[in-house]
Amino acid sequence: MTKDNIFSIPQKKVEDFSFDKKVVAVFPDMIKRSVPGYENVIIMSGLFAERFARPDSNVYDLGCSLGATTLAMRSRISAPGVKIIAVDNSPDMIESCREILASDNGMAPVELLLDDIRNIDFQNNSLTALNFTLQFLPPGDREPLLKRIYDSMPPGAALILSEKITFSEKRNSELFMDIYHSWKAHNGYSEMEIRQKRTALENVLIPDTIPQHTARLEKIGFKRCELWFQCFNFMSMAAFK
Ligand SMILES: C[S@@+](CC[C@H](N)C(=O)[O-])C[C@H]1O[C@@H](n2cnc3c(N)ncnc32)[C@H](O)[C@@H]1O
Repeated sequence: MTKDNIFSIPQKKVEDFSFDKKVVAVFPDMIKRSVPGYENVIIMSGLFAERFARPDSNVYDLGCSLGATTLAMRSRISAPGVKIIAVDNSPDMIESCREILASDNGMAPVELLLDDIRNIDFQNNSLTALNFTLQFLPPGDREPLLKRIYDSMPPGAALILSEKITFSEKRNSELFMDIYHSWKAHNGYSEMEIRQKRTALENVLIPDTIPQHTARLEKIGFKRCELWFQCFNFMSMAAFK
């Protein structure tokens, strides 16, 4: 696994974060050391897929990056006729993801799309995973996307939504951000790396609170929204139609 040291050199002006070739080269190490519980969320996505992927339906992995969620789901799906549709708008991610998928011998077919998740015509959707991706959409685009996902689902289908979050209580936001940064330092990131990455993400990743997520999902029509994972300022919830 190539070590992430992208922000280890002082930058005069820190550019906005993007999922380019540099990031793709270190992505597995970066996400493992930057998202507490990432590996659990991925494994559990596979367990959700095992349960919710219905025969002859589509399962979506939106913002698939290098295909970690797709591979976890593929390894657990046993229902016949299931297709996984994995989407990312970063050409570099999709190129590497294609190579990774080619060396996997899972049964379910995977359609890999280089596209914006806002352009996808969702169909026959028994399960959608949005693992750490919704947070990168402009806030106003989040509800319309979730509504289209909801509309493409039969009753009983599920959404997995994993996100970095913030808190309505300012003191809690500061506290959990601080503990989170201690965890990153524990994982080998220097103070400068943590600071520069934070600046790079500032205009790009806009987190919501858990009540904002829940209220939006319920407004759209999802019946049961359950938080099943949280660690500091990261969470995953499942919502059911
Ligand atoms: C943090 S990564 C997601 C990690 C991935 N789901 C996993 O589990 O390993 C966010 C991904 O979303 C993609 N992305 C961000 N905005 C997108 C959009 N509007 N359409 C498609 N992909 C998008 C990025 O290119 C990036 O690969």
